[in-house]
Amino acid sequence: MIKRVRSWWNGADKQETLTISEDNIPQHVAIIMDGNGRWAKRLGLPRIAGHQNGMKAVKRATIAADELGIKYLTMYAFSTENWTRPKEEVDFLMRLPQEFLAIELDELIEKNVRIRMMGHEEHLPSHTVNALREAIRLTEHNTGLVLNFAMNYGSRREMTECVKDIALQVQSGELAVEDITPELIDKHMLTADMPDPDLLIRTSGELRLSNFMLWQLAYSELWFTDIYWPEFGKQHLLEAVAEYQRRSRRYGGLK
Ligand code: IPE
Ligand code: IPE
Ligand code: MG
Repeated sequence: MIKRVRSWWNGADKQETLTISEDNIPQHVAIIMDGNGRWAKRLGLPRIAGHQNGMKAVKRATIAADELGIKYLTMYAFSTENWTRPKEEVDFLMRLPQEFLAIELDELIEKNVRIRMMGHEEHLPSHTVNALREAIRLTEHNTGLVLNFAMNYGSRREMTECVKDIALQVQSGELAVEDITPELIDKHMLTADMPDPDLLIRTSGELRLSNFMLWQLAYSELWFTDIYWPEFGKQHLLEAVAEYQRRSRRYGGLK
């Protein structure tokens, strides 16, 4: 087994060494990027400053995931429940994909990254959808890391659409009730052509899923950290992956 040993300063004056095995890298990592507002508040800044700095953390996480050899990185950017926030904040969040892509797309293309979007396009402003569609189009033939933005995503909504799709096929006689299997359901989810996340990361100390990938996370390893999303960097991803590699995934069996 090839072992790579990494060292980094963990922010305190203690140096830690991480052992990351190259043959057990999670294929799909999903991240609930939380704590932007609290990060800003702690510094006496408006909440949007937290979102602005959160964008830089998206870049750091993407580069680090690519270097590690992760194949899919799903980022929870905006939930179907986030519409209840004040309009100015929602408007700001809706401008971030454009801003992020204007700054980073060239480098992402150079790195062979493929951009995807997972969520419901309706209600999203056209400038947000157009920026994402353009990035998806420009990177559709790339074969490197898949950077999947969960934008206006909600797991219950996704499942509801899935049930409706299948019900219509049954109603039209295209499908028999006996044909409904977990595999078929998988094919009707927004993640149809992606593996389930191996590792879920949530920042900001909250210990909940907030309507994120409830079906797909059935057997994912969960890793929580108290740091706020704008503070997230390569060392945190390495720490999460190192912890992931120490876990024993049993899927209900014995190992
Ligand atoms: C995450 O940070 C970003 C989004 C949910 C869009 P928050 O905005 O939720 O920050 P907190 O949780 O209020 O600190
Ligand atoms: C989850 O964070 C949604 C995103 C990160 C986009 P929230 O801040 O919306 O979640 P709650 O409200 O704390 O559950
Ligand atoms: Mg939050």
